Amino acid sequence: MACSKSFQRSAVLLRNSTTFEGFMAKRASSWWGAVQMGPPDVILGVSEAYKKDSNPKKINLGVGAYRDDNGKPFVLPSVKKASQRLVEKNLDHEYSPIGGTAEFCKNSIKLALGEDSQHVAGGANATVQAISGTGALRIGGAFLASFFPGVKDIYLPTPSWGNHGPIFRHSGLNVKAYRYYEPSTCGFDFKGALEDLSKIPERSIVLLHACAHNPTGVDPKPEQWAEMSAVIKQRNLYPFFDMAYQGFASGDVNKDALAVRSFLKDGHQIALAQSFAKNMGLYGERAGAFSLICADKDEADRTMSQIKILIRPMYSNPPIHGARLVAEILSDASLRKEWLADVKLMADRIISVRSTLQNNLKKLGSARNWSHITDQIGMFCFTGMNQQQCERLTKEFSVYLTKDGRISMAGVTSKNVDYLAQAIHEVTK
Ligand SMILES: Cc1ncc(COP(=O)(O)O)c(C=O)c1O
Repeated sequence: MACSKSFQRSAVLLRNSTTFEGFMAKRASSWWGAVQMGPPDVILGVSEAYKKDSNPKKINLGVGAYRDDNGKPFVLPSVKKASQRLVEKNLDHEYSPIGGTAEFCKNSIKLALGEDSQHVAGGANATVQAISGTGALRIGGAFLASFFPGVKDIYLPTPSWGNHGPIFRHSGLNVKAYRYYEPSTCGFDFKGALEDLSKIPERSIVLLHACAHNPTGVDPKPEQWAEMSAVIKQRNLYPFFDMAYQGFASGDVNKDALAVRSFLKDGHQIALAQSFAKNMGLYGERAGAFSLICADKDEADRTMSQIKILIRPMYSNPPIHGARLVAEILSDASLRKEWLADVKLMADRIISVRSTLQNNLKKLGSARNWSHITDQIGMFCFTGMNQQQCERLTKEFSVYLTKDGRISMAGVTSKNVDYLAQAIHEVTK
């Protein structure tokens, strides 16, 4: 596709030049003449196609951002209140410290590990603000590529968030895989995951989605996490948790942190990437955190000094506004309570629309088992539809989704769920 586009572009250029030599000379005369057209981002490509469609019934299920029941972006009431408070404080716009403010970092890590975390109380965490979850993963990748004392291979679940591979390769790690998703059940391949984890060479790194696995929506159960923790311990592997959806899966921030907290209880040291994009709706503010949970405060101080040295030439210091909003919300008991209710509202809407979609498919007489729609959790549902069925959904019904059958439940509303169920039923008959 990229090749044929590039060929077409070259053909146009050739037509506009009088001779082939002229065309080549023109190419050689520009610094960037040899740069090939890259492929478009898969998810942004879905949104572009959606925008161009004039069908009033069109639905965009590609985008990974929460929408309210009218399909509109949602600004959390608690975030609105925090914004207002910040305006009233009339703050300056000075630089943030390299690792972000102490207030943001302390509140972020406490949200992940719990208010009563002994690790935080003892200062065993090295936590910095990052450019949202992506930036946190990138800092983590850079730190591991420089300092990890074991094998610099990171194992990702299959499938994983599409950006994980590029982020870690860009950081200088080797990216490998372990089994995770079982297409025949649209569920967790627990046996396959355990088998693969138990064969990973010792002292390697394992990436784990803390909750609301993207793209599958399939999470291990607590007892399965416990077994995975034991195998990871036994193989002496290093767990790196990506927690981009805390609170967004179940509606309860503590429940969604179960895996992270239980691994710490089991004696693992962990790396952790956090994002406030989804659970606070701060997508464009780029507020996230990266933490290493170390043996003690001395180790945390030493690793922290090196993390800051890595950050400095990358972007010097992080943006302040989103981090101020997060700190304002998490540090004030009443505003925090309001935020927890906002998170629950978003999670509950998604859980409810999952049930409606499943019930509608049943009512339409679908012979398929759609139990995975409600077994899966979080923003995404891996429907099990194949590429051809996805293409039909788009072409015949103006329902836009990625070709792997992933749908963003955030794009489903009480108004479009009937139409969506009908469309899915038609293409999966
Ligand atoms: C699994 C996972 N990790 C990390 C991220 C990073 O998101 P952001 O950089 O917007 O915080 C996402 C976003 O979709 C995600 O799904």
